[in-house]
Amino acid sequence: MAIIKGILGWLEDRTGLGAAVKPVLDHKVPYTNWKTGWWYVLGSAVLVAFMIQVISGIALSTSYVSSAGEAYNSLKFITDEMIFGNFLRGMHFWGGSAMVLLVGAHALHVFIVGAFKFPREVNWLSGVVLFFTTLAMGFTGQLLRWDQTAYWSVIVGADQAARTPFIGESLAKFVMAGNTVGGATLSRFFAYHVFFIPGIIFLFIGLHLFLVIRNGISEPPERGEAVDPKTYRQRYHDLLEKTGVPFWPDAVWRDAVAAIIVVLGVVGLSIFVGPPHLEAPPDPTELRVYPRPDWYLLWYFSVLALIPPAAEPYVILGGPGLAIVLMIILPLIANKGERSPLRRPWAMGFVLLLVIMISTLWITGLVSPWSPDLTTKPIDPAVLKLSDAQTQLGAKLFYEKGCQYCHAIDVYGPSDASQPGSPRVVGGARGPDLSTTGSRLTKEQIVVRILNGGNSMPQFGTLLTPPELDAIVAFLQTRKLPTGEHQQGKANEVEVSTNQKK
Ligand code: HEC
Repeated sequence: MAIIKGILGWLEDRTGLGAAVKPVLDHKVPYTNWKTGWWYVLGSAVLVAFMIQVISGIALSTSYVSSAGEAYNSLKFITDEMIFGNFLRGMHFWGGSAMVLLVGAHALHVFIVGAFKFPREVNWLSGVVLFFTTLAMGFTGQLLRWDQTAYWSVIVGADQAARTPFIGESLAKFVMAGNTVGGATLSRFFAYHVFFIPGIIFLFIGLHLFLVIRNGISEPPERGEAVDPKTYRQRYHDLLEKTGVPFWPDAVWRDAVAAIIVVLGVVGLSIFVGPPHLEAPPDPTELRVYPRPDWYLLWYFSVLALIPPAAEPYVILGGPGLAIVLMIILPLIANKGERSPLRRPWAMGFVLLLVIMISTLWITGLVSPWSPDLTTKPIDPAVLKLSDAQTQLGAKLFYEKGCQYCHAIDVYGPSDASQPGSPRVVGGARGPDLSTTGSRLTKEQIVVRILNGGNSMPQFGTLLTPPELDAIVAFLQTRKLPTGEHQQGKANEVEVSTNQKK
């Protein structure tokens, strides 16, 4: 005992760490009751999730190889052969999910109780940085998985970034580190995910925690107690003097319980559910892919799928841009006044709207196929009323070559109103509905589109023989608007609304 005391005494004398930490433990925090207290654990729960990420991430990085040739195999090794490898991947995936979820909940709680107001504006601003860097970690991390889904999701992301006005192309190049997603992209995402973004996160967590201690944890809001920068600090000081409790041990136990719940939750999910299944390695010619971002970005993909294609370029970066600007402005313009949610009806209405919007979009995202509808069945040639062998072959190839996975076709033809009832339209909604191609595109245009691909339409130049191409084109030329209707008629609008990728 004496030796330990001696060592600790020596350490304390040379470093002063104990003296530095003691005020942090002893500092008073506002008294919270059973009901209000639990909401305050969200912040420290995020920190716990982050620590899980750091530890599991470092462990994964010891075996992961960030080269296009090796990444997939190294992950396969981690998943199938490394001791605890699959568990580790699970921890990292579910830890990341927990972190995104908790960051969101924490930010929402801070907003609801008005804790971003004076003098905690910079707490909020540093939190905004942490919020978006967390999402960026999710996005960059997904590519490191380097399987079909990961690969195609980034293609989709880059594709959409490329459509931003003015800076689109440079931006897509910057994201992908070149013109296509490849080895350079992987190296770049690895650097972001492992060095660059975590560096920012560490820095801002430091600032964030420093400010939490310096400005104190906000007291539970009371109706009628408006924040006035002139009097707030004094009032807060008095409140702590009167009813405050020491952080250690009076408040910290709730954080400890929350930390245990987070860790147990993540461990449980890693064991019982496991990490996302590692799909086939990326292969640009493989069409049976199902790109879908990890769940926390899914709702945003829904937005992009649902808005009219013409609005997409403005929404893709404009949406997040607006969110960032609003979140930065918020504490600067609304740092005074009532904090109680009961006295801030507009703010609460906004929260309600946001929650409803995101959950609806999220559900939409879960049920709507971003991409190939692999369940589509070959079309019965009889209902297509095709007169010759070539177009019949075309219809068959349209299914067999995978076109139908992405493109819908009105089986009876839009000109045929004599066949009511379903199912009229078959095929996926990844590309434009081709029910009226014959009226919209010339033969040459159709050929060019098929051979060259582009914008998520694969290049079929090398995948089809000339007779096959001719047959498909001939078939598509039979798909026409009802005679007499204008080319840019109603059927065209239907096409636009089902075209998720234009
Ligand atoms: C992976 C999904 C996918 C597959 C498979 C696919 N396409 Fe496409 N296709 C698209 C997308 C997305 C577009 C829209 C591209 C754009 O926005 O420019 C498109 C565009 C087209 C167009 C132009 C439509 C227009 O209105 O401009 C034609 C024609 C076409 N595809 C034919 C085919 C044929 C024929 C096949 C099969 C040999 C096929 N596609 C397979 C996704 C796909």
